[in-house]
Amino acid sequence: MVYASATKLLNVPDSSVDLVVTSPPYPMIEMWDADFCRADERVNTALQANEGAVAFELMHTQLDEVWQELERVVKTGGIVCVNIGDAARTLDGVFQLHSSHSRVISKLVSLGFQNLPNIIWRKSTNAPNKFMGSGMLPPGAYVTLEHEYILIFRKGSKRQFASKELKQLRRESAYFWEERNQWFSDVWLDLRGVRQGLNRTKLRARSAAFPFELAYRIVNMFSVKGDIVLDPFLGTGTTLCAALASERNSIGFEIDASFRQIIEERVSALKSSANEYIASRLDQHIRHIESRIVDGKPPKFMIESLGAGCVSRQECGIVLCNIEDIRRTAANTFEANYKQITTCNIQAMSNVSEAVKQSKRTVTGGQIRLDF
Ligand SMILES: C[S@@+](CC[C@H](N)C(=O)[O-])C[C@H]1O[C@@H](n2cnc3c(N)ncnc32)[C@H](O)[C@@H]1O
Repeated sequence: MVYASATKLLNVPDSSVDLVVTSPPYPMIEMWDADFCRADERVNTALQANEGAVAFELMHTQLDEVWQELERVVKTGGIVCVNIGDAARTLDGVFQLHSSHSRVISKLVSLGFQNLPNIIWRKSTNAPNKFMGSGMLPPGAYVTLEHEYILIFRKGSKRQFASKELKQLRRESAYFWEERNQWFSDVWLDLRGVRQGLNRTKLRARSAAFPFELAYRIVNMFSVKGDIVLDPFLGTGTTLCAALASERNSIGFEIDASFRQIIEERVSALKSSANEYIASRLDQHIRHIESRIVDGKPPKFMIESLGAGCVSRQECGIVLCNIEDIRRTAANTFEANYKQITTCNIQAMSNVSEAVKQSKRTVTGGQIRLDF
């Protein structure tokens, strides 16, 4: 972790980062006004004068400096994922939408990144007062903003996996077929939380953290084990935790050093929550295979390391690992050791379900049979 502004990604070499997962402060969302004003007094002047479009542009100009740095540090073929929400705001009696997602797309495209199909993250809000405007009387009611975006970009041409070692890491980093079907949908509705052992401090409440599952999915969709993942707006350290849980290296920049304690607490509590999460992936996979068997569609392939059936050949090389320990190696640096999950040690894992433990796996003459 580096507690400094990401407008200069100090000590991050050119073309060194495989994946960026981040969520900046959102322009024109009031909770971030003070931060934008502190960095540039002109933002305050524009807001005071009710010049929304000017304030919006000045705020984005601050973020642009970070996007410019990403252009320098991301490798060719590397992926950048930006979680951002638009802002609907009334200034001087005028209500309007400030479209941050389109402003960020324009900037990154102008820097040479290619925009790939994006994800809409649909957030459920059940509050009856969520509707704005003239209530039931047309035409002055406004559509509620119930989603954010995960914008996805690639730098240059597709990544190549030239060496034998990288090809092997790529195979081990594959995800399950049914996860592919869910994760690669362009609307995410169903992000699971994970126990994070966090104190609900004021700092946490105003952190605007994204869920662990959001970062975990992106890390696993767009990088392989051993890669370097960067979050220039680290906040409570969610990206760092997702990268650690996924056997990736990570670097985070956070301008507000008061997040240090919360990040360190999260990393300390990560072993049990990450292992619980990985066990739940395995559980869900076994249940998925079980339901296919019931439906008369037994799996054709087998994940060698887990002795579990799978739908596609690309899953055969998957290797899942638990975190064995995490230790501090320098003031702001942590390192983890991992233990591979195998058919032998699944029985000893307290956090996998009985369905997984009791599944008997047999391979006969190239055919796999799973009995539950
Ligand atoms: C939306 S929050 C990120 C939340 C994070 N994804 C998480 O899960 O906790 C944005 C963070 O960026 C930080 N920040 C704002 N400007 C920054 C800058 N120039 N450099 C680094 N961090 C910055 C803020 O202090 C805030 O913690």
